[in-house]
Amino acid sequence: MRATYSLAAALAALVPAAAGAQSANDAAAERGAEVYRNVCAPCHDRLPEGAAIEMLAGPESLTLKYRGALSPYITERPDLASYEVLSMFLRKGTGSMPPFRKTELSDEDIAAIAAYFARTSAGSR
Ligand code: HEC
Repeated sequence: MRATYSLAAALAALVPAAAGAQSANDAAAERGAEVYRNVCAPCHDRLPEGAAIEMLAGPESLTLKYRGALSPYITERPDLASYEVLSMFLRKGTGSMPPFRKTELSDEDIAAIAAYFARTSAGSR
């Protein structure tokens, strides 16, 4: 898994060398939260109560796909808190989700989203 190691190194380089692995994870998760809000949430997030439609396109489609076996909200899926799994879906696209080019979403962005999902999905199944 050479790609994983070099990504981890790239992410670690985002924080001062003196800081430990924990703050590298914090920095990645924070960046992941921002990328998720800007790029993914418009199709995948929960809608506020009383919204005109029940669900956005992502959760609606994932509800049909998994029929309740998995959460339709990607932030609640521990299986998606992985760079490899997210890259597969994001680089190829899936169903009605288009693929993302590296110029739109970098490998570091994907790793950061995985770090964010590791937090948001902790405790969910
Ligand atoms: C234009 C709307 C749109 C955007 C933007 C979008 N998605 Fe999706 N995504 C979808 C839809 C719709 C599906 C369900 C596709 C299907 O029917 O299989 C989906 C599916 C997925 C899946 C597959 C889950 C599974 O179990 O099949 C993952 C993972 C995913 N999206 C992650 C993301 C992430 C991370 C982002 C932000 C970088 C993102 N998506 C941005 C619409 C979007």
